This record gives sequence, structure tokens and C-alpha cells, in this order.
Amino acid sequence: MSKSIPKDLGLPLIGHLLPYQKDRLKMLVELGQKHGEIFELKVGPRHLVVINSPEMIKQVLQTEFDNFVKRNNTKDIFGDSLASANAESWKEQRSMLQPLFSSAFLKESLVHFENLTQSNLENYDSNPNFSNMNVFFSKITFDIILKCIIGLNSYHQFEKVDKALVEISNSATNKNYLPVNMPKFLNPGQKRLENSHFVMREIIKEGIDLAKENEDSLSLVNVLIKATKNAPELLRRNKNFINDNVFTLIFAGYETTSQTLSWLSYLLSQNKKWQNLCIEEAINFSNSKEINHENLKDLKYIDAVINESLRLYPPGWAFTRANIKETDLCGYHLKADQTVLISPFLTQRTSTLWEKHDSFYPERWLEKTPAQFGRYNFFPFSSGPRVCIGMQFAMMEMRIILITILKNYKFTLDGHHPIMDARVTLFSKNGFNIKLEEHNQK
Ligand code: HEM
Repeated sequence: MSKSIPKDLGLPLIGHLLPYQKDRLKMLVELGQKHGEIFELKVGPRHLVVINSPEMIKQVLQTEFDNFVKRNNTKDIFGDSLASANAESWKEQRSMLQPLFSSAFLKESLVHFENLTQSNLENYDSNPNFSNMNVFFSKITFDIILKCIIGLNSYHQFEKVDKALVEISNSATNKNYLPVNMPKFLNPGQKRLENSHFVMREIIKEGIDLAKENEDSLSLVNVLIKATKNAPELLRRNKNFINDNVFTLIFAGYETTSQTLSWLSYLLSQNKKWQNLCIEEAINFSNSKEINHENLKDLKYIDAVINESLRLYPPGWAFTRANIKETDLCGYHLKADQTVLISPFLTQRTSTLWEKHDSFYPERWLEKTPAQFGRYNFFPFSSGPRVCIGMQFAMMEMRIILITILKNYKFTLDGHHPIMDARVTLFSKNGFNIKLEEHNQK
């Protein structure tokens, strides 16, 4: 007989809304410690079933993939793109977009990763906003995504676009947990959200116009335009296919990478031994090898540090699925239409799954690969058929950005320690007070 899921519903009407708003990571970890691998909680009007066992996570993300779908509420952000679609529409879009992340595209992107990091390093001293390391990394990853996805050179209005993307991200964080649905005219956030989407539509249009002029470029917009010429039926059904998917790739691909690098720079600033190992590796690598797609896989220490940062501070700290039919989830009865919350942050810091679970311990990655730790124990890019489509791109990008910086500079803490703030991605409440200092190592 199936077991019933332990419930922790909090206060009448609001459930756990107050601790959720105050510190949702702390709330999640405490409830996880109290209830173990599965529990149901209520935040405002929403009931969530939190799962924290690799077997259950595998069932949701892989074995019962067709039953556990994305809810429509991500449409406000992503429109009808790959990130919000389900079933046949998702399969069709995934199979059109997947080949775009081919090795030819990655190869062409490598040069941009290095050049755009270098040009931002040259402006480092003259831009006072770069005292927040996250602004510096956001500018680099934004320039990269702009160049590789829509073929535009460094955008003159970075601050405007960055503000629009933060607004969209904040509105997504807050919306689902309001106790009531506010009418549009009482909700100033709704107006800001519409303005932000307008800013993004303008920039994407600029990229599409540019792609039409320069058909040789391998930018994703260009490849998408060509691919859809052979699929007119798709454009008839989903006229926003290009706009929504380009927006999704920008939104999903820029902040995630800059957050990871920001947390990583903080971790290295606190750990001299590992910072030195990474510096030595960056110097040796750039002295002895031409950077290419293949030999980047030889990085040992830099990869260990990237994996350890993604374990401790996964930017996609939680995501949800809803089940169409009732099911048995590893012995627990799950009625139909439940929202299941999966949190890489929670699972990747669970003491029964990880030795030194809350500590920075990159040594673990010298002994085992991510796959050997288990695809459902370590899944910062998710896992299963819906695994992040930009995973290889992001890994290459982070490796090259780090080599380019660390061969000349080290990260030093210059103010308060960052404090985690779980919005759509894992921010820091007080920024990242990290500065770059030349290290003079050769
Ligand atoms: C460190 C960097 C990144 C991390 C940690 C990350 C993480 C994730 C996660 C956890 C998901 C699954 C979300 C869910 O199922 O609800 C996802 C999906 C996705 N990511 Fe990433 N991502 C990163 C970089 C990128 C980049 C660079 C791109 C594109 C250029 C990208 C594009 C996407 C897209 C389009 C999806 C939706 C895939 C689908 O539903 O089939 N991501 N990512």
C-alpha cells in the first residue's frame, strides 16, 4: 500500500509565505531536515510537493517524463518557446534548436568568449560599476550571448537591457506566491513587466534585421531564420517562434552563467590554495596550447572549481513540474495535478548524499566525474530529456572566461561577504564585493 506524503502546511491562509519571503533557502533546508525525502508545504495559495531523493527526481525528470510537465505559468516570461512548451510542441522545438548547439557553433563561439572577456578586462579600471564582480561578469556574459545568439556587437544600452531582464526575473519570482491575483491596474509590476518585454523585443528585432543583412554569420538567429524557412507550417502555428526562443536563450543563458562565475570568484577569493592551482593551470594552458573545443576538456582544477560552485550555488536553485495523472512516486501516492518542486540547491547540499556537504571541497571532483556522482545527485543543469540545452556552451564559456582572467589576475574580497538571495536565479543580496588584482605569476 502507498504511503501518504507528510504535510507541513504552516499558518491558515498564508501557509509558509512569511518564512518563504524572508529566506526561502533556509526554510527549504529546515523543512528538508525535518521531513526527509518528500513533504508537502503551502506557500500563499500554492501547495508544493518537495522531493529530495535521487530516485524520485529521476522518476519525475526521466522515467515519467511525459507525465510530469511544465505548467503554463512560465508563458508570461518565455511565451511559447522551448522553455515553456510541453509534449509535441516541446519535441518539435527541441529538435529544431538542438542542432544549433553543434560543434561548429561552439567552435565559432570560442573566439568570441576570449575576445569579449579581454575587451571587458581592458575597461575594468574605468568602469566603477565593476566593483560589483557580478556586474563585470554580467557584462561579459551579456556581450557573449548577444554576439553568439543574435550576432550583435556589445550593446550600447547594456544597463537598460540588464534592468529589463532583472524586472522580468523579479516578477516571475513574486507572482506565483501572491495570496490573490491582483487586477492589472492595481499591479504596477505588471506595467513594468510589459515595458521590459518591449525593451527586449526591440533588441531582438535589431538582431533579426542584422541577421537578414549578413546571412553568412553562424549566430543562432541566423540559423533559426534559415531553419524556419524549411518549416513554414511551424511559423504559421507559432508566429512568435523566433522572438520567443531568442528571448528564452538570452534570458536563460546570461544571468545563470554570470551568477555561477560570481559565486566562483567569491569561493576562490576565500581559498588561496585553490585560487593558486587555478592560476597555474590557466597560465600553463595559455602558454602551451591553442585553446580549442577538444583540449579544454583537459582542465582539471578549473573544472573542479566550476563543478563545486555549481554544487553549492546552483543558479537554477529550484524548478517545478506538474503531473497529469496520479502516480506512485517511489512508494508515495501522488494525486493528479500536483506541483512537484525539485531543488538542486537542497539535494546537492544534503548530508546523507554528500560528504562535507556544506563546505567548499573541490578535491571531490578530482576523484569522480559528475556522472559518477549520479545524474540525479548532481544536476545544476537539470537532467533527463529536458536537460539544459546550453550546458556545453555554458561550460566552455566559463572555462575560457576563467582562463583569460586568471592568467593575469586573482580575485580578492573587498568588502562584505555575499548573502544568498534566491530569486529566479541565485543572486547575492549585497552584490559581490570582489576585485581583480594582478598576481604577477608567470
Ligand atoms: C551555468 C549556466 C547554466 C545553468 C546552471 C543552467 C541551468 C538550467 C536548468 C536547471 C534548466 C532546467 C530548468 C527546468 O527544467 O525548469 C535549464 C534549461 C534551459 N537552459 Fe540552461 N543553464 C545555464 C546556461 C544556459 C545557456 C548558456 C543557455 C543558452 C544559451 C541555456 C538555455 C536553456 C534553455 C533553452 C532551457 C530549456 C530547455 C528545455 O526545456 O528543453 N542555459 N538550464
